[in-house]
Amino acid sequence: MSRRSLLIGSGSALPKRRVSNAELAETVDTSDDWIVERTGIRARHIAGEGETTGTLATEAARKALEAAGVSPSEVGLIVLATATPDQTFPATATSVQAALGINDCIAFDVAAVCSGFLYALTVADSMIRGGGVDVAVVIGAETFSRIMDWEDRTTCVLFGDGAGAVVLRAGEGVESARGDERGILSTALHADGRHNQLLYVDGGPSTTGTVGKLRMKGQEVFRHAVTNLASVLVESLVKAGVSADQVDWVVPHQANRRILDATARKLGLPIEKVIVTVDEHANTSAASVPLAFDVAVRDGRIKQGDLVVFEAMGGGFTWGAAVIRI
Ligand code: UT7
Repeated sequence: MSRRSLLIGSGSALPKRRVSNAELAETVDTSDDWIVERTGIRARHIAGEGETTGTLATEAARKALEAAGVSPSEVGLIVLATATPDQTFPATATSVQAALGINDCIAFDVAAVCSGFLYALTVADSMIRGGGVDVAVVIGAETFSRIMDWEDRTTCVLFGDGAGAVVLRAGEGVESARGDERGILSTALHADGRHNQLLYVDGGPSTTGTVGKLRMKGQEVFRHAVTNLASVLVESLVKAGVSADQVDWVVPHQANRRILDATARKLGLPIEKVIVTVDEHANTSAASVPLAFDVAVRDGRIKQGDLVVFEAMGGGFTWGAAVIRI
């Protein structure tokens, strides 16, 4: 038996404004039919005035702490995954920390775009297993609407804003009601920077001095996504010592319904075991996995004792997966 990170609570937050495909089609040369057929997206939430990555992250973290029954004073670590921080610095994680009234803990951001939450989860898990941290809040939060080129219909219809968070607590030999040991059983991460130019933002503090806009070669990203996600899922299951048929739920990065279907098919997993929120949230980058997870926990699908797999792939490329007994 060894020290593990138990996932003991989750929370999420969405901007107030929901924008349907039909509403988007009033200002962008697109149609509800095209977006639904090619992506499965029906709507997304777009941040308004006063709503930022930091405010959404704080709301998600607060709900996750409530669900976990953990007081902010117990938190030793906040890791926030985002590609759209409130400012270049300080880290948005420190704004969340201040808003939660935590005066001293470790707090920093992680940038791995759509796989950011998997990277943040892995860092937090390592720090917990290393013994330096007992309670961690891991957040994925984004306001991609602010780096969209709203004249580019090939990208602006695909993304949305939101945040999701989970609370991890160190535990040893903690069993679920089913008698299985709970906690993060494995994580697997990858990056291949040769593909930088397939999905990127054309600006930054050290190059243009501007924030920039998102650019993507969608078809090429699509091809890599299905291959990389299938292989990292298998890798994470092997590392955890479990087989695909033992998995209760897959919580994938929500980029495109066709990627979710193709990945499930490749692994022989029934689509009923895949949590799908891309229809309502679109692609919320680092927020998408914890957001989808929280939806499925709160609607009663994911329960304690379930074997859950997270997976994501994004700009860089970066990709990763995690196997967790809830
Ligand atoms: O989060 C990181 C990971 N990101 C992803 O995984 C995204 C991966 N890629 C995708 O999801 C898909 O490639 C897209 C949804 C981006 C595009 O779907 P596609 O089936 O690959 O379409 P396409 O790029 O081949 O475009 C087909 C046609 C083109 O017209 P022509 O050249 O055939 O006349 C596009 O100009 O659809 C046109 N098109 C649109 N039409 C209406 C592109 N965007 C739109 C649009 N509305 N919004």
